[in-house]
Amino acid sequence: MTTTSLPLFILGQGTDPGSERGVDCPGELPPASDPELVDRARRAKQALGDRLFVLGHHYQRDEVIQFADVTGDSFKLAREAAARPSAEYIVFCGVHFMAESADILTSDAQKVVLPDLAAGCSMADMATFNQVEEAWEALEDAGIADVTVPITYMNSSADIKAFCGRHGGAVCTSSNARRALEWAFGQGEKVLFLPDQHLGRNTAVLEMGMSLDDCVVYNPHRPPAPEALRDAKMILWKGHCSVHGRFTAQCVDDVRARIPGVNVLVHPECRHDVVTKADFVGSTEYIIKKLEAAPAGSSWAVGTELNLVKRLAGMFPDKNVTFLDRTVCYCSTMNRIDLPHLVWALESLAAGQVVNQITVDADTAHWARVALDRMLTLI
Ligand code: 13P
Ligand code: SF4
Repeated sequence: MTTTSLPLFILGQGTDPGSERGVDCPGELPPASDPELVDRARRAKQALGDRLFVLGHHYQRDEVIQFADVTGDSFKLAREAAARPSAEYIVFCGVHFMAESADILTSDAQKVVLPDLAAGCSMADMATFNQVEEAWEALEDAGIADVTVPITYMNSSADIKAFCGRHGGAVCTSSNARRALEWAFGQGEKVLFLPDQHLGRNTAVLEMGMSLDDCVVYNPHRPPAPEALRDAKMILWKGHCSVHGRFTAQCVDDVRARIPGVNVLVHPECRHDVVTKADFVGSTEYIIKKLEAAPAGSSWAVGTELNLVKRLAGMFPDKNVTFLDRTVCYCSTMNRIDLPHLVWALESLAAGQVVNQITVDADTAHWARVALDRMLTLI
């Protein structure tokens, strides 16, 4: 796929606690031009041996993903982190909320490191703890809090996960959102879905047969009237992914006109009209498996983050894999983790210095773990 001549957009800059810290590796970041970076990363990894486990989300750059011991979507990576009790250091090549989840799911003796603390997520930032507490009070005032189950997408801060744990809810990912919603509707009559309205709406309407009228959007700055909350089955938080939000129904029409017979394959963080027009929808793991199984010569327009789409185009040269949008768009915060930051983190660990450790306080971790464990049992 040729992408370099297209306009370049980088979206998704988060302002979550990670990016607000601002300082990550004062004065010690190796220059990106250092030709030794790959060897340095290799040597540091080798020196750390089994004490180190590197997780890489599919949206990471190629220069980083080559050092991942395991790659995956957020669900797979959460499970992998939980399954490595012997690793002293978990280096998380992903974004802040993923590293928080890894810290929650690992023991106190294990240290989770995020190579660049500015790798946040703008979607996660769209639901703050205070806003969600206020929303819950609005549900109490409307008389529906005791029949509402809060479900939060993995892409949320630890305190939102803990909120869900405290209120009988669970976490979900794009791989298991339907199962999480089925579970939730077995516990109560309504769901407060945080923070991605699109994943919530797409799952409820396209996978579970609800109607758009069953859904109400909860704008924390202008909450819906109590009657609207009482009438809805799905209360969708007004959050979205700025990267997946770029894909439009027009992109789908355009690519179908450009490439006859193209299969449109999108992530459920895309808008409802895009997902409705697509042929296939699923998490990043699903997208990869779908392309693996596709016949040679078939054409695919993929609506998800560009690092992954470019990698897939390279992995399957016998298939025509293209990016769904005409403009190039990376997730800026996923892209914050680059080789210099990874080398800096690994060399610091090899020298005995733990840098950029992500820790979640004990009470938050306890309740977030309750919500995460509910998810992990929904296999
Ligand atoms: P998944 O890894 O759950 O597919 O989510 C995509 C994403 O946007 C992660 O930030
Ligand atoms: Fe957040 Fe979207 Fe980037 Fe994922 S792709 S980290 S949801 S901004």
